[in-house]
Amino acid sequence: MSEDVILKSKENAARRALEFVKEGMIIGVGSGSTVRLFIELLSKEFDGVDLTFVAASYDSELNLIKQGFRLLPLYEVEKIDIAIDGADEVDPKGNLIKGGGAALTREKIIDYFAEKYCIIVDSTKLVSRLFQKHPIPLEVLPESWTFVKNFLETNLRGDAKLREAVRKNGPVITDNGNFILDFHVNPNVEKPPELLEEYLNSIPGVIENGIFARRKPFKIIVGYPNRVEVLDM
Ligand code: 5RP
Repeated sequence: MSEDVILKSKENAARRALEFVKEGMIIGVGSGSTVRLFIELLSKEFDGVDLTFVAASYDSELNLIKQGFRLLPLYEVEKIDIAIDGADEVDPKGNLIKGGGAALTREKIIDYFAEKYCIIVDSTKLVSRLFQKHPIPLEVLPESWTFVKNFLETNLRGDAKLREAVRKNGPVITDNGNFILDFHVNPNVEKPPELLEEYLNSIPGVIENGIFARRKPFKIIVGYPNRVEVLDM
């Protein structure tokens, strides 16, 4: 699929998600190019409407500020009415891999604590099984990264790589000041996503991992160039 077709598909998914936005809501937004489109469309359709936002990354925060939206830190809100987020992989049961943009920790806080969350993706994100196309991103405390890498490679026999930055020397530093390990799962040692999500977070030094399986989105909006499909979970 060409970049233009993918962009159009993302835009269609993002546009459909506008129907869940209502005046007075506190809305959590994730991060990434599809969420960016959602914020742009919101600014056109909901200009002057009373909305409050919490965001999962500096990128989303800056985009919300640019569009003139009211933004609060996460600890300033008592609830999140709905969260809208993207994903890197979506399986038929609504299990996700996220963290391509290194924002997985705050994304999971927002998506899991929101009353409900909705995923917006283009159709290239649909997979029959997770972990075949993308590694699992893990946000790790910088001091711990070699121990976590060795632990993963010894106990799960996969391959864990420190994510390297582009246009900066050295590793990617997350918005929280940590490193990202991208863990390529060994298909022979695969666990169900819910169990793997829990297991990875039990490793000392791991702050969060990019499997979103323990809490499912209430809707997954899949964008195609000329239509959308809304999956109820
Ligand atoms: C960032 C994420 C994003 O939601 C995911 O990478 C999808 O991004 P895009 O909408 O650009 O395809 O998890 O950490």
